[in-house]
Parts: sequence; structure tokens; C-alpha cells
Amino acid sequence: MTKRDYYEVLGVDRVADDQTLKGAYRKLAMKYHPDRNPGDAKAEEPAKKSVKEVMKLAHKDGLLKKIIEGSAEQADKEQLLALYVDMWDAEPPKGSVESWNKLTGGAIVAAARVVVGKDGAVAELKERTNCGACHKEHKAS
Ligand code: HEC
Repeated sequence: MTKRDYYEVLGVDRVADDQTLKGAYRKLAMKYHPDRNPGDAKAEEPAKKSVKEVMKLAHKDGLLKKIIEGSAEQADKEQLLALYVDMWDAEPPKGSVESWNKLTGGAIVAAARVVVGKDGAVAELKERTNCGACHKEHKAS
């Protein structure tokens, strides 16, 4: 992944700071959120999932696997992106914020690239969702 793609996907200025990037991710996730209901102001910010909920929905229930295997629908890809944005916002049981932002941010960018159908995005998603690497840093055993 190059920096350029990252900014391209999100449509933000190249000098954007962390806050702007987070906002752009959230907007993208909201845009693609399957439960989004534009008529209801309360639905504008969907309830955020905890890390455990994300692990269940994205990993235990096979959503990520389905996408990597190539049998997922567009809605599945959009759901994974939304789940990973929630994961970024959630707090891991251990590990530094820098590491968490880097790992979850990488997963988000890869998932966003899968949503917009970039070349090589699925391979990147597989790399960026390395279970063991993240658990070692952030999962209390
Ligand atoms: C970006 C980091 C990250 C990645 C990538 C990641 N996990 Fe996790 N996972 C966590 C954290 C943090 C926890 C601990 C959550 C807690 O205890 O609150 C966890 C917990 C879990 C749990 C236990 C959930 C529970 O209810 O206690 C399972 C199962 C799991 N992960 C599966 C996976 C699988 C399978 C993959 C790879 C496909 C994966 N995870 C990738 C961060 C990650």
C-alpha cells in the first residue's frame, strides 16, 4: 500500500491530520453502513461495536474468510469496513495506542480498498488482518 492510495480512497487532503483521517474513515463507513437509515437523525451514528463484537461478527462468523475466499457480496465488504472502523474506536485490553491505530488503520484502509475494488486489495486485506500479530500486542491472554 502506498500513501497515495490511502488518501485517494478517503478523498482527503494529503496533509490531513489524524483527526481528519478518522473523520473520513467514519464518513466512508457510515456511507457504506448497511443499517444506515438517513431519515432518522438518531441512526446517523450507528451504535459502535466492542472489539469482542467485531471479532465475533468479522472473524468467528466467517465474514472476513468469505471476502478472502472471493464469495462475498458488496454488502459483506461494506459491513467489514464498518466493523473495522468501530474496532479503531474501541479500546483493546492492552498495548499502545500507536500500535492499535497502526494495526486497525491498516485493516481499515485494506477493507476500504476492497469496497472500492482496488487491484490487490484482497491480498492486502489478508496481510493486514494477521490474527496472531495483533493478538500478541493487544489481546490479554
Ligand atoms: C487489529 C487487531 C486484531 C486483529 C487483526 C485480529 N484480532 Fe482478534 N482480537 C483482538 C483483540 C484486541 C482481542 C481481545 C478483545 C477483548 O478481550 O476485549 C481479540 C479477541 C479475539 C477473539 C476472542 C473474542 C472473545 O469473545 O473473547 C477471537 C475469537 C478472535 N479475536 C479472532 C480473531 C481472528 C480469527 C483473527 C484473524 C482473522 C483476528 N481475531 C484478528 C484484536 C485483533
